[in-house]
Amino acid sequence: MLQIPFGADKFSLDTPALCIELDTMESNIDKMADYCRAHQVQWRPHSKCHKTPAIALRQIAAGAIGTTCPKTSEAEVMAQGGVRDILIANMVVGEQKLERIAAMRRWSDPIIACDHYAQVEPLAAICRKRGVTVRVLIEVDIGLNRVGVRPGQDTLELAQAIDKLQGVELAGLMGYEGHLLTVEDQAEKEQQIRSAINVLTGCADTVRDAGIPCDIVSAGGTGSYQITAQCAGVTELQAGGGIFMDPFYRNMCQVQELEYALTVLASVVSRPSRERAVLDCGRKTMNPDVHLPVVAGDPATEVTRLSAEHCELKLTPDSKPLQIGDKVELVVGYGDFTTVLHDQFYGFRNGRLETVWPILGRGKLQ
Ligand SMILES: Cc1ncc(COP(=O)(O)O)c(C=O)c1O
Repeated sequence: MLQIPFGADKFSLDTPALCIELDTMESNIDKMADYCRAHQVQWRPHSKCHKTPAIALRQIAAGAIGTTCPKTSEAEVMAQGGVRDILIANMVVGEQKLERIAAMRRWSDPIIACDHYAQVEPLAAICRKRGVTVRVLIEVDIGLNRVGVRPGQDTLELAQAIDKLQGVELAGLMGYEGHLLTVEDQAEKEQQIRSAINVLTGCADTVRDAGIPCDIVSAGGTGSYQITAQCAGVTELQAGGGIFMDPFYRNMCQVQELEYALTVLASVVSRPSRERAVLDCGRKTMNPDVHLPVVAGDPATEVTRLSAEHCELKLTPDSKPLQIGDKVELVVGYGDFTTVLHDQFYGFRNGRLETVWPILGRGKLQ
């Protein structure tokens, strides 16, 4: 059986290994929680990147009101791990999943997103049969053009129809401004996010004016949370991945306040030339599609290419010297698509292994 060497030095770990710098992650959690508190919005961070109840509970200890999940089975993992207030920010379709939601309601308090009556009516029927009530949020399309009911009359009519159903309770609205995270000009980005969120809060006002309660207005990702938190009428934020932070958020979304906490420790396995080193971590260890990984603590060395099991580094005269067998730490380019490739996180504090967390929601796709 694998002996976990708690207290071991980071660079003694076998590679590749997905590592969390615990002090940095906790500081990011506290910064995001503080920001929400300062702007009087609740924080229900998306857990799609960490998928780990222990981390969700740490966020709740910092002030989060619960967690947000993308899938029914990830929500079950969170509920089993002790998280009560769970938003599934996605459509849930099919009798098997709806039965699981009704069952989950016995030991947690899920909220399900929807954008059509055809998703909610069967949920309500199953809930009535099981003697429970489940909360639903209407997802409004605020420009992302992914899912979501159209704002205006369509949203109001769906709210009115849901309001009449027994077995479900309309908890409010959500929207996601994901199409605006990478707008380069920061004034333009702020203006566009404010106007997209305005559409959402306007819909919430319309629903309330019709006499239907609409307590929750949920939006926001890491790439936008500082703007979205300032929009009047938003009651909670879904921003989550910022607890790990990564070069996608920093370089493409211009998020500056959070620090990198997620790395892959790798080994040099080949030095084909003076300018090139090859590491034992390719696309099956780190997803490079959104942003390439970055070499930690060595700006003169650049990641140039990843194949399935190899990562190529370009060395310059200013690079740190690298020999076969040396360990290199890479900041993961985009955490969200990388954590799903791993069984566990290795958590370090002051360079010593403190915890190993199985990524319990990994592979929970149903
Ligand atoms: C519905 C929803 N909310 C929020 C987010 C933001 O997540 P994060 O803060 O981890 O980038 C996403 C990202 O894809 C999303 O799809």
